[in-house]
Amino acid sequence: MTYQELLENARKKMAPNCRVCKECNGIVCKGEIPGTGGKGNGRAFTESVEFLASVKIHLDTIYQNEGQDTSVSLFDRTFKYPFFTAPIGGMNLNYNGAITESEYMDAVVNGTIAAGGAAFTGDGPNDSLFLDSLHYIKAVNGKAVPTIKPWKNDKVLEKIKMLEEAGAMAFAMDIDSAGLINLALAGKPVSAKSVEELSELVASTKVPFVIKGIMTVKGAKKALEAGAYGIVVSSHGGRVLQDAPAPCSMLPEIREAVGDKMKIFVDGGIRSGSDVFKAIALGADAALIGRPYVIAAFGGGAEGVELYTNKIGAELRDVMIMTGCKNLSDITMDKVIL
Ligand SMILES: Cc1cc2nc3c(=O)[nH]c(=O)nc-3n(C[C@H](O)[C@H](O)[C@H](O)COP(=O)(O)O)c2cc1C
Repeated sequence: MTYQELLENARKKMAPNCRVCKECNGIVCKGEIPGTGGKGNGRAFTESVEFLASVKIHLDTIYQNEGQDTSVSLFDRTFKYPFFTAPIGGMNLNYNGAITESEYMDAVVNGTIAAGGAAFTGDGPNDSLFLDSLHYIKAVNGKAVPTIKPWKNDKVLEKIKMLEEAGAMAFAMDIDSAGLINLALAGKPVSAKSVEELSELVASTKVPFVIKGIMTVKGAKKALEAGAYGIVVSSHGGRVLQDAPAPCSMLPEIREAVGDKMKIFVDGGIRSGSDVFKAIALGADAALIGRPYVIAAFGGGAEGVELYTNKIGAELRDVMIMTGCKNLSDITMDKVIL
């Protein structure tokens, strides 16, 4: 399968919910929630793509070429590339149900592993989504990151026990789901959490905890205080606050504030290896990619996810060649122009 064939398959299979646009930038789908768009006027989604496009990269090919190593170490494991699938749920509600939640999970968990990577998986109003993810995660010796919604802590603690049993290498919470329209429509009680509530979750387990949906220095410091392993600088793909800035634009100040005390992931509008490079230069350890992975899964299942992962990985390597970066630690702020 070629990437073009993957896109053509996806375009037929995803209509009318996702149009598989030439550039996945939130313009055509703005305001479509349920659906794939950004909230309200859609600006928080489009802004994340526009910001990344505005960042430029310095070209320099006078150096001793010793090859390029794209690998990253996280959760005591090594991955071939510094990007993962973002957790996405709602194959029926947001997409058209042409693949089930379970088929989606199968595609992203196994497709990323085949390419040397890993997936973050989602949670939703119906418990079966989370439980299904654990089935696939257990089968791959825990090499994925289940993401729990900010339910009441007693319910989250139950889910933490389940993911421990499945051997998950880490878990995340999309703390920003407190503002999610879909959950409000389903009448499910999610809400903001205090540092104390988050600390209780950290203290309950040895599994590393990643808090997703941090957009400020203050938020990052609170996640650090709660004992999180890492954060995802994210606005939930622009789906929870229409006037949020581009997550990647917040990276330099967040990295400056927390130093190396926490791992920093970022998502929102990352569409190429070049964008992954920019995210790392601005301060991230790794990126998450959301909607394009759904397109890869609809267009080609696990094979499509593997193909897409290697495509983005090859693009990243190409940018490293053009900028004299031997490994990820060479991708520093001075490699980009803001
Ligand atoms: C249809 C859809 C469903 C999503 N479901 C979840 C979810 O269940 N849990 C979660 O943490 N984030 C969810 N997200 C947010 C993504 O994890 C991610 O933050 C966002 O899509 C990244 O932006 P990108 O799609 O521009 O790459 C969802 C996003 C979309 C578009």
